[in-house]
Amino acid sequence: MTSIPSAIATPPWTRRHVISLADFTSAEYNTILQTALSFQEVLSRRTKKVPALQGQVITNLFFEPSTRTRSSFELAAKRLSADTLNFAPGNSSLTKGETILDTAKTYLAMGTNLMVIRHRQAGVPSMIAQEMDRLNTGVGVLNAGDGLHEHPSQALLDLFTLCMTLNPEEPRLELLDSHKIAIVGDILHSRVARSNIWSLLASGAEVHLAAPSTLLPTLFEVYGRDRPGKLVLHHELTPALENADFVMTLRLQQERMTQNLLPSLREYHRQFGITRDRLHICKPQVKLLHPGPTNRGVEVTSDLMDDPEISLVSRQVTSGVAVRMALLYLMGTGEE
Ligand code: NCD
Repeated sequence: MTSIPSAIATPPWTRRHVISLADFTSAEYNTILQTALSFQEVLSRRTKKVPALQGQVITNLFFEPSTRTRSSFELAAKRLSADTLNFAPGNSSLTKGETILDTAKTYLAMGTNLMVIRHRQAGVPSMIAQEMDRLNTGVGVLNAGDGLHEHPSQALLDLFTLCMTLNPEEPRLELLDSHKIAIVGDILHSRVARSNIWSLLASGAEVHLAAPSTLLPTLFEVYGRDRPGKLVLHHELTPALENADFVMTLRLQQERMTQNLLPSLREYHRQFGITRDRLHICKPQVKLLHPGPTNRGVEVTSDLMDDPEISLVSRQVTSGVAVRMALLYLMGTGEE
């Protein structure tokens, strides 16, 4: 097993839970970026494991389906030498009527130190965090996606990917200052977009949201108030893409749509789908991001997704492990 790089031995960190990025400070973003960089270096070694969280128990409580987020957290915990428990609702006591809180307390009684929680309802990770604090457990809660609310670890790995593209030696929040980032797609249903809006605006970037008005209500304007960056809403694609440095596309979340918000997927693609031709009005070095899973041919064409010159999608997934290691490490070794 390799040693922990000295650069990450004692980073400043006081946050017990990570539920939302709305109140994250620049210092916190930069601590995560620096720590993730060190872990990325660990992951490039032959022995990709460090003893940082040996003896700690990290429990993945995913009440909603997930491929990359759950696997990425599990691998991150294992690379830190923690013991991991994975909860799957389908074959759990939830089917016998057990409440979410009792499920969390069961894992607490087994010695869980950190809980990574995903739930289709907004507020569940926060509710469990409050209960953990009320009981004075010292257990940290990490929100892995709650309803339409937030998905902080996804936005942090997006941030790391963006900053690494600009400066792989020293990824810092300020690198994104004044860069134009277009977020295109189903913003209304996207917790990824909400968390990304906070982190990108904190960097001083210009964030341009683009979607049909049914998927981008004007109430999103409030997110831009009193933040270092600028937030602009568009109900057509072209002005969002013009001179953009980065384009982030989002999945149309058909399972979360309660009404018929679009004429058809074909019509959506015609108006908002990201194609090679449409990227010509962006900066020449434009890069494309997508948190996945993707509806290929709907929000983005397949050839773009797979083009290594343009697409950062695989890098997002790879970065996810280092960034989640950073989060678990900081939360797991922070203040008692
Ligand atoms: C996202 C999610 O679950 O919020 N995916 C992810 O975690 N990478 C986005 C989505 O479901 O479209």
